[in-house]
Amino acid sequence: MIAEIEALASAALSRIAAAANLDEMEAVRVEVLGRKGTLAEFGKLMGKLSASERVDAGKALNGAKTSLEAAFDIKKTAFESAALNERLQSEWLDLTIPPPGLTPGSLHPLTQIQNEIESLFFSMGFTILDGPEVETEFHNFDALNIPADHPARDMQDTFWLEGGHLLRTHTSPVQVRGMMRLGPPLRMIAPGRVFRNEEVDPSHEHTFYQLEGMMVDRDVSIANLLYFMKTLLSGIFKRDTTVRLRPGFFPFVEPGFELDIECMVCGGAGCPVCKQSGWVELLPCGLVHPNVLRAGGIDPAEFGGFAFGLGLTRLVMMRYLIDDIRWLQSGDLRFLKQF
Ligand code: PHE
Repeated sequence: MIAEIEALASAALSRIAAAANLDEMEAVRVEVLGRKGTLAEFGKLMGKLSASERVDAGKALNGAKTSLEAAFDIKKTAFESAALNERLQSEWLDLTIPPPGLTPGSLHPLTQIQNEIESLFFSMGFTILDGPEVETEFHNFDALNIPADHPARDMQDTFWLEGGHLLRTHTSPVQVRGMMRLGPPLRMIAPGRVFRNEEVDPSHEHTFYQLEGMMVDRDVSIANLLYFMKTLLSGIFKRDTTVRLRPGFFPFVEPGFELDIECMVCGGAGCPVCKQSGWVELLPCGLVHPNVLRAGGIDPAEFGGFAFGLGLTRLVMMRYLIDDIRWLQSGDLRFLKQF
């Protein structure tokens, strides 16, 4: 019987070795090692043997079982890893291919122009600052030389909130925060969203974007202001621009100006875009008022500065000849896909 068991085991081993796949091997396993398999048949015959024969036959039977099981396990693992390798070869994804049916988005034109202006000023040593959209009356008005009884408060229709808070009406409060945080000398710009309680029409929005700029140092003059403004404009419009200053009133600058650029459509000759004047109003600016420096903790006897307020929304509209401000916040894909 021992010889029979050994013969059976070695036949099974060579069938296992010859098996070409898991299924073939499984068939051998069931046939030999299964509950009704050939080894189990031998097990049943054990009872008929004498005690001493039974010991030897039992050893042979267990030995055959163990070596067959080991052979199965080894070959099974080999089959499984071969199958896995094959899958890895045939099923792989190129994660860099854009999915079908999705068109990639693009940056909003406001974001694009903001990025451009930020890198321009960054290259000239300006810090880019952020400020809260919910502001205090102090930062939005008082510290900018606009006390409560000042008629200039009516220039900007304000969304008032509870507890003396408001939605900032301009980015100028970031000037105040900048002076307090950085101290003089300083160069900063502050792009951001501002809010005014306006009737909405093609040229007015309750929400729009500005970019504030400020430089504080010793001996800052209007010549410095003009230099930076001209650098800014040639950076945006990619050509030299002619500018002029007109007097303009803003409580936080003295003197205050409106900066005009020569009309790019007619080159200054006069056309419908510039209303025949040859000039287009672009940005307000001026030398920082001593009261504003003081509110920012800076001594006006030692330091002076300039400030400007660029209407980012206006600039985008001019650059792309957009005729209705409401497009910018419409979220309308027909509009956005053009950029
Ligand atoms: N903050 C002003 C406004 O929104 C613009 C401005 C900024 C004017 C800086 C002068 C200097 O009306």
